[in-house]
Amino acid sequence: MKVRIAPAGLDFDAEPGHTLLQAAEAAGIELPSSCRNGTCRTCLCRLTSGQVRYRIEWPGVSVDEKEEGWILPCVAEPLGDVRLDVPLARSLF
Ligand code: FES
Repeated sequence: MKVRIAPAGLDFDAEPGHTLLQAAEAAGIELPSSCRNGTCRTCLCRLTSGQVRYRIEWPGVSVDEKEEGWILPCVAEPLGDVRLDVPLARSLF
């Protein structure tokens, strides 16, 4: 699955079963994160295209936020190609 991070234009592949945060790190891309378990909301960002599923039953986003496209990439796995808006994302290479 292809992942594109705006506005930096960073692209990477995500393997099935990996969260977006894990896939980004494997590709040398740093996304904001802290707890890595869906509670602190440090990683909160907007999904602008595609769909995700959550590893945990109650990720720390409200119903309204979900409808607006906000996701937590530390516990979200892509279900296909996705685009995220993460202004603080940066490549480590
Ligand atoms: S890093 Fe804490 S909710 Fe994602």
